[in-house]
Amino acid sequence: MIFGVILAGGIGSRMGNVEKPKQYFIIGNKPIIVHTIEKFYVNDSFEKIIVLCPNQWINHTKNLIKKYIPGAVDKIAVIEGGSTRNETIMNSIDYIEKEYGLEEDTIIVTHDAVRPFVTGRIIEDNIHYAREYGACDTVIPATDTIVESRNGSIVSSIPDRKTMYQGQTPQSFRAGKLKELYYSLTPEEKEILSDAAKIFVMKGENVHLVQGEVFNIKITYPYDLKVAEAMIGESHQG
Ligand code: CTP
Repeated sequence: MIFGVILAGGIGSRMGNVEKPKQYFIIGNKPIIVHTIEKFYVNDSFEKIIVLCPNQWINHTKNLIKKYIPGAVDKIAVIEGGSTRNETIMNSIDYIEKEYGLEEDTIIVTHDAVRPFVTGRIIEDNIHYAREYGACDTVIPATDTIVESRNGSIVSSIPDRKTMYQGQTPQSFRAGKLKELYYSLTPEEKEILSDAAKIFVMKGENVHLVQGEVFNIKITYPYDLKVAEAMIGESHQG
């Protein structure tokens, strides 16, 4: 079974002092999170789409789904996220285990609620590669040279740009394997591993690359909202 997992458990602190998490901001004519859920809803491969958000936003999220995508109500479960992004993913796996059981081939396609421009092709490729290899990560080739500095003032290294990529989402995994690897981490490792694909890499497991899109942006700062608005405007015209 394949599950869509929409990660909306964050509060968007980098967006500044705002009254609601950024996933509930409107772009075009509907909330960002609704744009994102719609991209998953149109794919028939998903047994269920699990949306994880802060506890106090669960009812609001359910109401948004009823209002904007009423046909999807039965296909979507809205549950509480966790204190970190990875804990949010673990909550989705607990839910799946409780409701459906975890099989060897249970796949989760995890995606940031604040990446509303994901495409059907990217989602399809994630499903394909997660089935084939057990784990995959959506990336685009780095456009800027990546400069590493370990102390924030002196350059430590400048890796060859041709081998550098920028990570996006979805990231997709065999759910049982991710759970097993996550619980094998020490508390210190859990603290630094904000990225679920990195858990596989750290434990020596292969993670296959999926080609992302430059426009599959994550809305993080107020500037990104302006870009997203402009992109929606363009797609309305075109
Ligand atoms: N996320 C989550 N659970 C958390 C933290 C983050 O599901 N405990 C989700 C966010 O809702 C977002 C995605 O992970 O859709 C990417 O994270 P990020 O852009 O960092 O979102 P926030 O944590 O909300 O933002 P910030 O770091 O600025 O506070």
